[in-house]
Amino acid sequence: QERNFVMSSATEPLPGTSDCWEPEVLDWIELETAAREIFHRYGYAEVRTPIFERTEVFVRSLGDETDVVQKEMYTFTDRGGRSLTLRPEGTAGVIRAVADRGLEQGEEARVFYFGPMFRGERPAAGRRRQFHQVGVEAVGNDSPWMDAECIAMLSHFLDQIGVTGGKIKINSRGLPEDRPQVSAALAEYFTPHAPGMCEDCQRRLTTNIWRMLDCKNPACQEVAAGAPDLVSLMGDDTRAFFARVCQSLDSLGVDYEVAPRLVRGLDYYIHTVFEITHPGLGAQDALAGGGRYRIVLPGAKKPVEGIGFAAGMERLLLARASLGRQTTAVAEADIAIISLGENAILPGLRLAQELRATLSGLRVKADFTGRSLKAQMRGANRSGARLALIRGDNELAENVVLCRDMTTSEQQSVPAADLMAWIDERRTTLFA
Ligand code: HAM
Repeated sequence: QERNFVMSSATEPLPGTSDCWEPEVLDWIELETAAREIFHRYGYAEVRTPIFERTEVFVRSLGDETDVVQKEMYTFTDRGGRSLTLRPEGTAGVIRAVADRGLEQGEEARVFYFGPMFRGERPAAGRRRQFHQVGVEAVGNDSPWMDAECIAMLSHFLDQIGVTGGKIKINSRGLPEDRPQVSAALAEYFTPHAPGMCEDCQRRLTTNIWRMLDCKNPACQEVAAGAPDLVSLMGDDTRAFFARVCQSLDSLGVDYEVAPRLVRGLDYYIHTVFEITHPGLGAQDALAGGGRYRIVLPGAKKPVEGIGFAAGMERLLLARASLGRQTTAVAEADIAIISLGENAILPGLRLAQELRATLSGLRVKADFTGRSLKAQMRGANRSGARLALIRGDNELAENVVLCRDMTTSEQQSVPAADLMAWIDERRTTLFA
């Protein structure tokens, strides 16, 4: 008992991480394929950036008062004494990569990415320490129409993968010059409520008051619900920018609602912020989030502006499953090759190669164990194979292959020279 326990804990993945097997892997591939197809249609190109970066890339971009930077980053010192961090999100690294390539004034980069992200959060359903995002960034533009197109693209993508029923909420974080008056109004509102709020919020009152709108604590959320509408406190230009985003979305027929107190948990945002929630997700109901940002990279003089979003891939799959979408198991093999006796093994290996080269699209698995016919047949059954090709010394001597239909159990001896044509003729009935 105890030994089993030790064995299983040593082989289990760490909390908040998991192993992913077929057929689930096929769902991931399908999601990636759909994302590539949609984002290419909008003129975005795929980029792959490293999974770790200098810590300052994230601290400077996301903001040192954010939960991600304060509590959740996997940061370590490498052998050269540098502080490195496993990326907690994709935007900061993509902006670093775009800046490294160089972006001329007036030039744009539109990219998308997939990949693992790491946050040391308390694991729960839909909340993981290694999770995966699919995201996009359009860098080097400051147009509200770009924001509208980006949100419309996210909506198009969700439709395409069958994730219906999500709710798009949008708001504005305004520009740096809008912040003093918004912060003052928030301070006036929150100060009398602060004693009843969580410790983090009491600290945020002086360090980053906007984040008080975003606290996950139920008591704090109740207070935050009565806070003033942010956009109404902002300047004319900001309000005009936001109005243009909303008008464009209306004109594109995108369904959304304005969430007047949505701020999002990262500090790089300016102007438009948005989030999509889905009823199939439970407590962690954010399917995707994004917005317009302005990021100053370490060592850079000028900020980079862009718009983008990221969706949690695990959550996309959960949302899709909640709508009744089932993963279809795919057989490991269509054809099983069974070799009886030492002499038949090498011919079996060669036959498998020949089948794979000739009959594309079929999965072929050969058994090299030399086990009994019964044991090999059991393995063939388990693999889901519809056809078993059996050879022992007799078949080799007669130059034939025993073809067994695993569904009907019918067997037929076929001359080796005719085998490919024989299988090809029966392809649709055998492997339907
Ligand atoms: P975010 O809202 O922090 O934004 O994350 C985006 C999405 O990643 C969330 O909506 C959620 O689906 C998923 N996600 C986040 N944390 C976890 C977790 N611990 N477990 C499972 N899924 C999770 C960003 O990361 C920004 N970089 C988005 C962006 C791109 N803004 C502009 N451009």
